[in-house]
Amino acid sequence: MEDDGFTLVSHRKKASRPNHPHTSHKQPHLSPSPSGFAYRRQKQRHAITRKPEPSVSSVMGDLETKREAIKKSKFYTKLCEALLQPINTLSSGSSIRPRNVDCVCYGVGSPVRSATSQYQLMLLLLLRDVFELEGSLHIFDPVMTELDKQVVKLLGFTVIERNERGLRPIKNPTVFFMPHCGHTLYSNVLRSNWTQAKLSRLMIIGNSFEAYSMIQLSSALERKAPFLCRSLQVLEELPFPHPFLTGDVFNNTSAHVFDVGKMGVEERFWEVSLDMENEDAGDPEVV
Ligand SMILES: C[S@@+](CC[C@H](N)C(=O)[O-])C[C@H]1O[C@@H](n2cnc3c(N)ncnc32)[C@H](O)[C@@H]1O
Repeated sequence: MEDDGFTLVSHRKKASRPNHPHTSHKQPHLSPSPSGFAYRRQKQRHAITRKPEPSVSSVMGDLETKREAIKKSKFYTKLCEALLQPINTLSSGSSIRPRNVDCVCYGVGSPVRSATSQYQLMLLLLLRDVFELEGSLHIFDPVMTELDKQVVKLLGFTVIERNERGLRPIKNPTVFFMPHCGHTLYSNVLRSNWTQAKLSRLMIIGNSFEAYSMIQLSSALERKAPFLCRSLQVLEELPFPHPFLTGDVFNNTSAHVFDVGKMGVEERFWEVSLDMENEDAGDPEVV
């Protein structure tokens, strides 16, 4: 099975790597990213000799195999331990089950073509089961085909039919599951929920926000992802355990929650200025 797009290979310090004409040819497969992370674009062999699409039942079989593998892993045990307290906090500090927590999944790619996508989807469903998150379950990725949509519907997802670019105000406590998405998407999720009441009921699983702040100048991050940048003041970040079963499925991934009360943030924190209004900062990772 071919993965469908990108593999995160490393952090890349944009500022310290000048655009040198003699070095650019040495890394032909690194797709530069304004986020400062580099993705290896995989060979497009299948554009010429593309394998026939697998059947829905074979994809469902692969998904089930991956689900069982994750369930048995140390990674999963450690992750569940680490997430228990933040999930309780999300549902108003209560451990009563089932929990009325919604899940929104953006940017997992194509489960029909991508093993990474399959692992990511299965982890979300396992977490939803183990923590008894019984709210709604939505998904969107612009690369998903009709076959992908069939598969995720069978898994219990409701497909979002319109590209909302992460601009989804929450109604209930919500986990946004967004592994390896573009910084604009994270910033847009925050932007749509930029009140004390909503931010404290939000968990974002995705690229480490702290890593963004370490590899980018704060002025650049403020311009490209203003809400992500400002959220660092109230951020509580829980890095995912290492290693995962295989490859780069959950590298550089953290769960992010926001402790707006404890930090006693000023009124100004919630004010949105005109220069934060740009919801499309030219992020090539976001369609
Ligand atoms: C770098 S890839 C990550 C794919 C996969 N999660 C992984 O870890 O390999 C970013 C993903 O974000 C998706 N994406 C781009 N724009 C999006 C949008 N507006 N809403 C949801 N997903 C989007 C892309 O199609 C792609 O699948």
